[in-house]
Amino acid sequence: MASQASNHPLKHVCPHILSLLSKLHNQSAAQEAHLTWDDFEPGTVDEKMRDKFIAIEQDKAYFLYQMGLATGAKTIVETGTSYGVSTIYLALAVAANVEATGGPGKVIATEHEPAKARKAREHWNACGSSVHNLIELREGDVKATLKHELGTVDMLLLDIWGPLLLPVLKLVQPALRPGAVIITDNTISAAEHCKELLDYMRAPESGFRSLTLPFNNGLELSVYQPGNAQ
Ligand SMILES: C[S@@+](CC[C@H](N)C(=O)[O-])C[C@H]1O[C@@H](n2cnc3c(N)ncnc32)[C@H](O)[C@@H]1O
Repeated sequence: MASQASNHPLKHVCPHILSLLSKLHNQSAAQEAHLTWDDFEPGTVDEKMRDKFIAIEQDKAYFLYQMGLATGAKTIVETGTSYGVSTIYLALAVAANVEATGGPGKVIATEHEPAKARKAREHWNACGSSVHNLIELREGDVKATLKHELGTVDMLLLDIWGPLLLPVLKLVQPALRPGAVIITDNTISAAEHCKELLDYMRAPESGFRSLTLPFNNGLELSVYQPGNAQ
């Protein structure tokens, strides 16, 4: 179970949520022990990952939570959602920000596998209303479900197959607020799959500032500064 030591980022979170998160991370890690990068090749990835969590690792999830707090994020978009593990961390950050400064908040989650969407809802319901009330799950192809009504987006998690990364960023980009944070998983180990996205964000006049963080397999932290694009 996750520690609640005084330097733990989730020290204020209910123990039953921490227990659930630890259980889900363990289930995900057990499945991943049998996967290789070949399983993520476009063409067969959907079929091979249909019943897999492939949840973001726990240390990265803590980082997501901290970034949510640091940016005061009240609208976060997540692509994709799978069984809803990362979504819980994002919702906890939005809940803390709403509690601190008021106003509405939400996490827009996205998943196209109906069985995964069902399971994700079960996990959010098990956390309780403070989590599940903040999550709006958009079921279906993310290229369609993120086309409308995003509001002003403070933070975007890109945790989806390589060919979707840039199209999804371009869909959300008009809704990103100046200073919005974009976090992309596995940008070292899946560098080839992320190339199109990273070339776009790293271009001199893109409006994005990007930094690869040395988490396992890499994690890209990008900041959107559209008025300062040189
Ligand atoms: C790496 S997993 C997400 C893991 C999740 N962020 C977590 O940490 O718990 C990527 C998910 O994206 C979903 N996905 C892939 N293509 C999609 C599409 N076109 N539209 C919506 N979801 C999609 C997959 O079904 C998969 O569950």
